[in-house]
Amino acid sequence: MIQVKDISIDNFQGIINLVYEDQEINNKVLENLKLKKVFEGKSGQVFYKTTEDLNYEIFVGLGKFNELEKTDLINAVAKSVKQAEKLNINELGINFIKANGLCTGGITKSIVQGVKLASYKFDKYKGNKEAYNPNVTIVGAPKEKLEKMKLKIEEASNVADGIIVARDLVNEPANVLYPETLAKRAVEIGKDSGFEVEVFDEKQIEDLGMKAFLEVGKGSVHKPRLIVMRYMGNENSDERVGLVGKGLTFDTGGYSLKPSASMDTMKSDMGGAAAVIGTMQALAKNKVSKNVVAVVAACENAISGGSYKPGDIIGSMSGKTIEVLNTDAEGRLTLVDAITYIIEKENVDKVVDVATLTGAVLVALGTEITGVLSNNDEFYEELVVAARRSGEKFWRLPNDKCFKKLYKGDFAELKNTGGRFAGTITAGMFIEEFVQDKPWLHLDIAGTSWTDAANDSTPKGGTGAPVSTLYELVVKHQCKHK
Ligand code: BES
Ligand code: MN
Ligand code: ZN
Repeated sequence: MIQVKDISIDNFQGIINLVYEDQEINNKVLENLKLKKVFEGKSGQVFYKTTEDLNYEIFVGLGKFNELEKTDLINAVAKSVKQAEKLNINELGINFIKANGLCTGGITKSIVQGVKLASYKFDKYKGNKEAYNPNVTIVGAPKEKLEKMKLKIEEASNVADGIIVARDLVNEPANVLYPETLAKRAVEIGKDSGFEVEVFDEKQIEDLGMKAFLEVGKGSVHKPRLIVMRYMGNENSDERVGLVGKGLTFDTGGYSLKPSASMDTMKSDMGGAAAVIGTMQALAKNKVSKNVVAVVAACENAISGGSYKPGDIIGSMSGKTIEVLNTDAEGRLTLVDAITYIIEKENVDKVVDVATLTGAVLVALGTEITGVLSNNDEFYEELVVAARRSGEKFWRLPNDKCFKKLYKGDFAELKNTGGRFAGTITAGMFIEEFVQDKPWLHLDIAGTSWTDAANDSTPKGGTGAPVSTLYELVVKHQCKHK
């Protein structure tokens, strides 16, 4: 539990102090630590001591005031909570701080995320289940902000739970999580948090004419499901945002088989689906007054005598024909049908697709920046504002018309790969061919939705990206603060 109180000190078992390297010190203990170079407030530093009444004081460094980013703050809070866990502290206080460019709400949100994500583990298959769940109280915050902070804590807590849902879904292995069970999870989550979920089976997907989607899934014993989630938070508006998440519950590559080393994390190829489901939960729990439809075309890219093959020419819900040159470029085939569906059947005005789409985005941007393509500068600016508020990082790549020739088909209208060069762009622009001029954002999260390098707020596995940005993008707060 996290709360905020109008006190500067209380009888906590432990109190956390977040300290800047370059801040003025009016604390004897800190001054001494700094002189002795034991703790200087550098980013990543931790120090703790017992107090006279046998409680603990924990210090965690934030680095320089002007250099602190939102993610650094989240990680510093997570680090201090991890230290508190080692010390068995259940009643934990945390001293409020100021941060460059962040308003009280943004700081509160970061603290809540740091606290909640610090103790995230995916250990259900390991037996050891003592989850650390301290009572955390934020103290020393400006009096006049307390009411606002209480609301923020509640909101941020629901967003953090959305992140956790996304992580859990990504971490679940493909023998447990396949299209049918993913759909079941979505139904349960919808029931718990308050959004409608409709699931279409193979026959119904066929009736909708989603030919490209069906081709990808047809080699697997696990049959595809189309998962449609609707949250209508504003009756007085007919504006609808559409979210589409790539839902490959496993990607072997198909006949264009992946080498083993690239296949071993492919249970995570439904990271986009996980993110939109987590986002729907956060929106519904916070009773956001927006209308959102999310769609996941869930299937498994597997090999069998019935799988699709390189050279196949396939149809799509839009009517466009596609030459399959590489069965490992399957994500875009599922996504374009999901996009046609969400535009034509759910009447959305804008589309955001979220997908673990290309290895190329890892080459271009690494593991901390999501690649973006967009056909609409205003919508992209909304993403920039949302990202400033979430702390997650994005970078836009050009969808220049010069790339079009790379994926123009020889024997069909389009081909599903554009070759080795500009792989993230051609994948995104292939999808753009199906958005019917709706304002569109394409988020390639192949680098950001999974991590091998754990940090204090994110263990190895699913990261939950970009739930918190998608949430902010839909909510569209007027305040442009971080
Ligand atoms: N799911 C993969 C992309 C991926 C790669 C996700 C690494 C996460 C980590 C996608 O389906 C894929 O295989 N893309 C191919 C496209 C290529 C064949 C044009 C790729 O990136 O190699
Ligand atoms: Mn693939
Ligand atoms: Zn894939």
